[in-house]
Amino acid sequence: MLILGIESSCDETAAAVLRDDTELLSSVVNSQIEIHSKYGGVVPELASRHHMEAIYPVVKKALTMADVTLDDIDCLAVTRGPGLVGCLLVGYSFAKAISMVRKIPYVGVDHMAGHLLSIFLSDRKPTFPYISLAASGGHSSIFLVKDQLQYQLLGRTRDDAAGEAFDKVAKLLGLGYPGGPIISEVSAQGDPNAISFPRAWLEPESFDFSFSGLKTAVANYVNQKKTKGEDLKLPDICASFQEAVVEVLVEKSLLAAKMYNISNIVLAGGVASNPRLRSLMKSRGEEEDIFTYLPSMEHCTDNAAMIALAGYHLFKSGKRDTYDLDVYSRMDVANLT
Ligand code: KG4
Ligand code: ZN
Repeated sequence: MLILGIESSCDETAAAVLRDDTELLSSVVNSQIEIHSKYGGVVPELASRHHMEAIYPVVKKALTMADVTLDDIDCLAVTRGPGLVGCLLVGYSFAKAISMVRKIPYVGVDHMAGHLLSIFLSDRKPTFPYISLAASGGHSSIFLVKDQLQYQLLGRTRDDAAGEAFDKVAKLLGLGYPGGPIISEVSAQGDPNAISFPRAWLEPESFDFSFSGLKTAVANYVNQKKTKGEDLKLPDICASFQEAVVEVLVEKSLLAAKMYNISNIVLAGGVASNPRLRSLMKSRGEEEDIFTYLPSMEHCTDNAAMIALAGYHLFKSGKRDTYDLDVYSRMDVANLT
Protein backbone atom coordinates (compact mmCIF):
# COMPACT_ATOMS: atom_id res chain seq x y z
CA MET A 1 0.00 0.00 0.00
CA LEU A 2 1.34 3.46 -0.92
CA ILE A 3 0.57 6.47 1.28
CA LEU A 4 1.20 10.09 0.28
CA GLY A 5 1.74 12.17 3.44
CA ILE A 6 1.28 15.96 3.47
CA GLU A 7 2.24 18.30 6.34
CA SER A 8 1.79 22.10 6.56
CA SER A 9 0.91 22.81 10.21
CA CYS A 10 3.60 25.40 10.94
CA ASP A 11 6.63 26.56 8.98
CA GLU A 12 7.54 23.44 7.00
CA THR A 13 5.80 22.37 3.81
CA ALA A 14 6.43 18.65 3.57
CA ALA A 15 5.38 15.61 1.55
CA ALA A 16 6.46 11.98 1.69
CA VAL A 17 5.66 8.66 0.07
CA LEU A 18 5.62 5.60 2.29
CA ARG A 19 5.13 1.97 1.31
CA ASP A 20 3.18 0.22 4.08
CA ASP A 21 4.71 1.15 7.43
CA THR A 22 8.20 0.12 6.48
CA GLU A 23 9.66 1.63 3.34
CA LEU A 24 10.07 5.38 3.08
CA LEU A 25 10.35 6.08 -0.67
CA SER A 26 10.72 9.86 -0.39
CA SER A 27 10.53 12.66 2.14
CA VAL A 28 10.69 16.31 1.07
CA VAL A 29 10.74 19.17 3.59
CA ASN A 30 10.66 22.79 2.49
CA SER A 31 11.59 24.86 5.53
CA GLN A 32 10.60 28.52 5.91
CA ILE A 33 13.20 29.22 8.61
CA GLU A 34 14.96 31.85 6.48
CA ILE A 35 11.70 33.72 5.89
CA HIS A 36 10.72 33.89 9.56
CA SER A 37 14.16 34.25 11.17
CA LYS A 38 14.30 38.00 10.61
CA TYR A 39 11.07 38.39 12.62
CA GLY A 40 12.31 36.20 15.50
CA GLY A 41 9.42 33.74 15.14
CA VAL A 42 6.83 32.35 12.76
CA VAL A 43 4.59 35.01 11.16
CA PRO A 44 1.37 33.06 10.46
CA GLU A 45 0.24 35.10 7.46
CA LEU A 46 3.63 34.77 5.74
CA ALA A 47 3.75 31.08 6.59
CA SER A 48 0.36 30.39 4.92
CA ARG A 49 1.38 32.27 1.78
CA HIS A 50 4.62 30.33 1.48
CA HIS A 51 2.79 27.04 1.95
CA MET A 52 0.60 28.09 -1.00
CA GLU A 53 3.69 28.55 -3.15
CA ALA A 54 5.47 25.42 -1.94
CA ILE A 55 2.73 22.82 -1.68
CA TYR A 56 2.50 21.86 -5.36
CA PRO A 57 6.27 21.62 -6.06
CA VAL A 58 6.90 19.79 -2.77
CA VAL A 59 4.22 17.15 -3.40
CA LYS A 60 5.34 16.77 -7.02
CA LYS A 61 8.95 16.32 -5.91
CA ALA A 62 7.99 13.67 -3.34
CA LEU A 63 6.13 11.69 -6.01
CA THR A 64 9.00 12.05 -8.51
CA MET A 65 11.64 11.03 -5.97
CA ALA A 66 9.58 7.97 -5.04
CA ASP A 67 9.22 7.20 -8.76
CA VAL A 68 5.43 6.96 -8.51
CA THR A 69 2.43 8.95 -9.77
CA LEU A 70 -0.90 9.76 -8.13
CA ASP A 71 -2.31 6.69 -9.91
CA ASP A 72 -0.18 4.52 -7.61
CA ILE A 73 -1.28 6.20 -4.36
CA ASP A 74 -3.78 4.24 -2.24
CA CYS A 75 -4.37 6.84 0.47
CA LEU A 76 -3.60 10.47 1.27
CA ALA A 77 -2.62 11.27 4.86
CA VAL A 78 -2.70 14.95 5.74
CA THR A 79 -2.16 16.90 8.96
CA ARG A 80 -5.51 18.21 10.22
CA GLY A 81 -4.25 19.85 13.43
CA PRO A 82 -3.04 21.12 15.82
CA GLY A 83 -1.21 24.04 14.27
CA LEU A 84 -1.71 27.41 12.60
CA VAL A 85 -5.13 27.33 10.94
CA GLY A 86 -4.12 29.29 7.82
CA CYS A 87 -1.18 26.91 7.33
CA LEU A 88 -3.13 23.72 7.99
CA LEU A 89 -5.81 24.77 5.51
CA VAL A 90 -3.29 24.85 2.66
CA GLY A 91 -2.19 21.22 3.01
CA TYR A 92 -5.63 20.00 4.04
CA SER A 93 -7.49 21.66 1.14
CA PHE A 94 -4.80 20.49 -1.28
CA ALA A 95 -5.20 16.88 -0.07
CA LYS A 96 -9.00 17.08 -0.18
CA ALA A 97 -8.88 18.41 -3.73
CA ILE A 98 -6.61 15.58 -4.92
CA SER A 99 -8.78 13.10 -3.07
CA MET A 100 -11.97 14.36 -4.74
CA VAL A 101 -10.60 14.66 -8.25
CA ARG A 102 -8.54 11.45 -8.28
CA LYS A 103 -10.96 9.48 -6.08
CA ILE A 104 -8.21 8.53 -3.64
CA PRO A 105 -9.38 8.11 -0.02
CA TYR A 106 -7.88 10.51 2.50
CA VAL A 107 -7.40 10.53 6.27
CA GLY A 108 -6.77 13.57 8.47
CA VAL A 109 -3.88 12.94 10.85
CA ASP A 110 -3.15 14.59 14.18
CA HIS A 111 0.31 16.17 14.08
CA MET A 112 1.10 14.83 17.57
CA ALA A 113 0.20 11.27 16.54
CA GLY A 114 2.79 11.67 13.78
CA HIS A 115 5.44 12.74 16.30
CA LEU A 116 4.51 9.88 18.67
CA LEU A 117 5.07 7.28 15.94
CA SER A 118 8.05 8.97 14.25
CA ILE A 119 10.48 6.60 16.00
CA PHE A 120 9.32 3.81 13.65
CA LEU A 121 11.04 5.65 10.80
CA SER A 122 14.37 4.92 12.51
CA ASP A 123 16.29 1.64 12.41
CA ARG A 124 16.04 0.90 16.13
CA LYS A 125 12.36 0.51 16.95
CA PRO A 126 10.74 0.13 20.39
CA THR A 127 8.10 -2.38 21.40
CA PHE A 128 4.77 -1.24 22.86
CA PRO A 129 3.96 0.14 25.34
CA TYR A 130 6.32 3.08 25.63
CA ILE A 131 6.49 6.50 27.23
CA SER A 132 6.83 9.24 24.64
CA LEU A 133 8.27 12.62 25.47
CA ALA A 134 6.98 14.82 22.65
CA ALA A 135 8.65 18.22 22.87
CA SER A 136 8.36 20.73 20.05
CA GLY A 137 7.77 24.41 19.43
CA GLY A 138 4.05 24.05 20.12
CA HIS A 139 3.88 21.17 22.60
CA SER A 140 5.62 19.47 25.49
CA SER A 141 3.72 16.39 26.46
CA ILE A 142 4.23 12.99 27.99
CA PHE A 143 2.14 10.20 26.48
CA LEU A 144 1.76 6.54 27.28
CA VAL A 145 1.70 4.97 23.81
CA LYS A 146 -0.09 1.61 24.06
CA ASP A 147 -0.02 0.70 20.38
CA GLN A 148 -0.10 2.40 16.96
CA LEU A 149 -3.55 3.86 17.65
CA GLN A 150 -3.89 4.23 21.42
CA TYR A 151 -2.23 7.11 23.22
CA GLN A 152 -2.90 8.23 26.78
CA LEU A 153 -1.93 11.79 27.64
CA LEU A 154 -0.15 11.82 31.03
CA GLY A 155 1.01 15.43 31.14
CA ARG A 156 1.34 18.57 29.07
CA THR A 157 2.72 22.04 29.38
CA ARG A 158 0.69 24.55 31.33
CA ASP A 159 2.26 27.53 29.54
CA ASP A 160 5.22 27.63 27.14
CA ALA A 161 6.29 24.53 25.25
CA ALA A 162 9.95 23.49 25.65
CA GLY A 163 10.84 24.55 22.09
CA GLU A 164 8.97 27.81 22.59
CA ALA A 165 11.10 28.47 25.70
CA PHE A 166 14.27 27.88 23.63
CA ASP A 167 12.95 30.24 20.94
CA LYS A 168 11.93 32.98 23.42
CA VAL A 169 15.19 32.82 25.40
CA ALA A 170 17.24 32.94 22.18
CA LYS A 171 15.24 36.00 21.16
CA LEU A 172 15.85 37.81 24.44
CA LEU A 173 19.56 36.98 24.19
CA GLY A 174 19.58 38.33 20.62
CA LEU A 175 20.64 34.98 19.18
CA GLY A 176 18.08 34.60 16.38
CA TYR A 177 15.49 32.03 15.33
CA PRO A 178 14.90 29.13 15.77
CA GLY A 179 16.37 29.22 19.24
CA GLY A 180 16.81 25.50 19.92
CA PRO A 181 19.64 24.72 17.52
CA ILE A 182 21.41 28.05 18.26
CA ILE A 183 21.20 27.66 22.05
CA SER A 184 22.41 24.07 21.93
CA GLU A 185 25.37 25.14 19.80
CA VAL A 186 26.32 28.09 22.06
CA SER A 187 25.82 25.87 25.15
CA ALA A 188 28.60 23.56 24.01
CA GLN A 189 31.15 26.19 25.15
CA GLY A 190 29.35 26.95 28.44
CA ASP A 191 29.10 25.57 31.97
CA PRO A 192 25.64 24.08 32.70
CA ASN A 193 26.16 24.67 36.42
CA ALA A 194 27.25 28.30 36.13
CA ILE A 195 23.84 29.79 36.95
CA SER A 196 21.22 28.06 39.03
CA PHE A 197 17.99 28.66 37.06
CA PRO A 198 14.75 27.30 38.56
CA ARG A 199 13.28 23.90 37.70
CA ALA A 200 9.47 23.79 37.74
CA TRP A 201 8.74 20.33 39.14
CA LEU A 202 5.13 21.32 39.98
CA GLU A 203 3.18 18.93 42.24
CA PRO A 204 4.81 15.60 43.15
CA GLU A 205 3.88 12.96 40.56
CA SER A 206 2.65 15.58 38.09
CA PHE A 207 3.73 15.01 34.51
CA ASP A 208 2.81 18.55 33.49
CA PHE A 209 5.43 21.10 32.51
CA SER A 210 5.82 24.83 32.98
CA PHE A 211 8.63 26.75 31.31
CA SER A 212 7.43 30.35 31.47
CA GLY A 213 8.97 30.93 34.94
CA LEU A 214 12.34 29.77 33.66
CA LYS A 215 12.11 32.15 30.72
CA THR A 216 11.36 35.01 33.14
CA ALA A 217 14.27 33.95 35.37
CA VAL A 218 16.63 34.20 32.39
CA ALA A 219 15.18 37.63 31.48
CA ASN A 220 15.64 38.86 35.09
CA TYR A 221 19.21 37.54 35.21
CA VAL A 222 20.07 39.31 31.96
CA ASN A 223 18.48 42.59 33.13
CA GLN A 224 20.37 42.50 36.45
CA LYS A 225 23.68 41.91 34.70
CA LYS A 226 22.99 44.76 32.27
CA THR A 227 21.98 47.13 35.10
CA LYS A 228 25.25 46.37 36.92
CA GLY A 229 27.15 46.87 33.66
CA GLU A 230 28.55 43.35 33.85
CA ASP A 231 29.37 41.19 30.84
CA LEU A 232 26.91 38.53 29.78
CA LYS A 233 28.57 35.16 29.46
CA LEU A 234 26.24 33.84 26.77
CA PRO A 235 27.60 30.26 26.67
CA ASP A 236 27.07 29.92 30.45
CA ILE A 237 23.56 31.41 30.29
CA CYS A 238 22.61 29.12 27.39
CA ALA A 239 24.11 26.00 28.97
CA SER A 240 22.47 26.69 32.36
CA PHE A 241 19.09 27.42 30.76
CA GLN A 242 19.32 24.31 28.56
CA GLU A 243 20.22 22.17 31.58
CA ALA A 244 17.15 23.43 33.48
CA VAL A 245 14.82 22.50 30.59
CA VAL A 246 16.46 19.17 29.82
CA GLU A 247 16.63 17.99 33.43
CA VAL A 248 12.89 18.47 33.94
CA LEU A 249 12.03 16.79 30.61
CA VAL A 250 14.23 13.79 31.43
CA GLU A 251 13.25 13.30 35.08
CA LYS A 252 9.50 13.59 34.40
CA SER A 253 9.76 11.04 31.57
CA LEU A 254 11.62 8.65 33.87
CA LEU A 255 9.05 9.17 36.62
CA ALA A 256 6.25 8.34 34.16
CA ALA A 257 8.07 5.18 33.05
CA LYS A 258 8.52 4.09 36.66
CA MET A 259 4.97 4.89 37.76
CA TYR A 260 3.45 3.03 34.80
CA ASN A 261 6.05 0.26 34.99
CA ILE A 262 7.26 0.77 31.43
CA SER A 263 10.77 0.04 30.27
CA ASN A 264 10.92 2.09 27.04
CA ILE A 265 11.17 5.86 26.62
CA VAL A 266 10.92 7.40 23.16
CA LEU A 267 11.78 10.99 22.30
CA ALA A 268 9.90 12.98 19.66
CA GLY A 269 9.52 16.52 18.32
CA GLY A 270 12.00 19.21 17.36
CA VAL A 271 13.49 19.49 20.87
CA ALA A 272 14.37 15.78 20.70
CA SER A 273 17.19 16.77 18.34
CA ASN A 274 18.87 18.59 21.25
CA PRO A 275 22.19 16.77 21.88
CA ARG A 276 22.15 17.38 25.65
CA LEU A 277 18.58 16.04 25.96
CA ARG A 278 19.56 12.96 23.95
CA SER A 279 22.68 12.24 25.99
CA LEU A 280 21.11 12.88 29.40
CA MET A 281 18.03 10.79 28.56
CA LYS A 282 20.29 7.94 27.49
CA SER A 283 22.60 8.05 30.51
CA ARG A 284 19.82 8.52 33.07
CA GLY A 285 17.84 5.75 31.33
CA GLU A 286 20.79 3.39 31.67
CA GLU A 287 21.02 4.20 35.40
CA GLU A 288 17.32 3.39 35.82
CA ASP A 289 17.31 0.29 33.55
CA ILE A 290 15.13 2.00 30.97
CA PHE A 291 15.73 1.74 27.20
CA THR A 292 15.88 5.04 25.37
CA TYR A 293 14.91 5.39 21.71
CA LEU A 294 16.01 8.45 19.78
CA PRO A 295 14.57 9.28 16.35
CA SER A 296 17.03 10.40 13.68
CA MET A 297 17.40 14.18 13.51
CA GLU A 298 15.34 14.60 10.32
CA HIS A 299 12.42 12.74 11.90
CA CYS A 300 12.48 14.81 15.12
CA THR A 301 11.54 18.07 13.40
CA ASP A 302 8.38 18.40 11.32
CA ASN A 303 8.16 16.11 8.31
CA ALA A 304 5.50 14.33 6.27
CA ALA A 305 6.94 10.82 6.66
CA MET A 306 5.58 10.65 10.22
CA ILE A 307 2.17 11.87 8.96
CA ALA A 308 2.15 9.19 6.26
CA LEU A 309 3.05 6.58 8.90
CA ALA A 310 0.31 7.60 11.33
CA GLY A 311 -2.09 7.83 8.36
CA TYR A 312 -1.17 4.30 7.29
CA HIS A 313 -2.28 2.91 10.65
CA LEU A 314 -5.51 4.92 10.64
CA PHE A 315 -6.31 3.83 7.08
CA LYS A 316 -5.54 0.20 7.90
CA SER A 317 -7.86 0.40 10.91
CA GLY A 318 -10.68 1.44 8.55
CA LYS A 319 -10.66 5.21 8.97
CA ARG A 320 -11.82 7.24 5.94
CA ASP A 321 -12.51 10.96 6.20
CA THR A 322 -15.36 12.86 4.60
CA TYR A 323 -15.09 16.23 2.86
CA ASP A 324 -17.10 18.21 5.41
CA LEU A 325 -14.34 18.16 8.04
CA ASP A 326 -12.33 21.23 9.05
CA VAL A 327 -8.86 21.68 10.51
CA TYR A 328 -8.29 22.42 14.24
CA SER A 329 -5.71 24.60 15.99
CA ARG A 330 -5.43 23.10 19.49
CA MET A 331 -4.40 19.69 20.74
CA ASP A 332 -7.36 17.60 21.83
CA VAL A 333 -6.81 13.95 22.73
CA ALA A 334 -10.15 13.13 21.11
CA ASN A 335 -8.60 13.96 17.73
CA LEU A 336 -5.55 11.75 18.11
CA THR A 337 -7.13 8.63 16.58
O1 KG4 B 1 8.60 19.62 15.98
P1 KG4 B 1 9.03 20.93 15.43
O2 KG4 B 1 9.87 20.91 14.17
O3 KG4 B 1 7.82 21.86 15.12
C1 KG4 B 1 6.70 21.96 15.95
O4 KG4 B 1 5.80 21.08 15.84
O5 KG4 B 1 6.71 22.91 16.76
O6 KG4 B 1 9.81 21.68 16.59
C2 KG4 B 1 10.39 22.96 16.42
C3 KG4 B 1 10.95 23.39 17.74
C4 KG4 B 1 11.46 24.83 17.76
O7 KG4 B 1 10.92 25.48 18.90
C5 KG4 B 1 12.96 24.67 17.87
O8 KG4 B 1 13.61 25.73 18.57
C6 KG4 B 1 13.08 23.37 18.63
O9 KG4 B 1 12.06 22.56 18.11
N1 KG4 B 1 14.37 22.75 18.41
C7 KG4 B 1 15.28 22.55 19.39
C8 KG4 B 1 16.45 22.04 18.76
N2 KG4 B 1 16.19 21.92 17.43
C9 KG4 B 1 14.92 22.36 17.23
N3 KG4 B 1 15.20 22.80 20.71
C10 KG4 B 1 16.29 22.51 21.44
N4 KG4 B 1 17.44 22.03 20.92
C11 KG4 B 1 17.57 21.78 19.61
N5 KG4 B 1 18.72 21.32 19.11
ZN1 ZN C 1 5.91 19.20 15.22
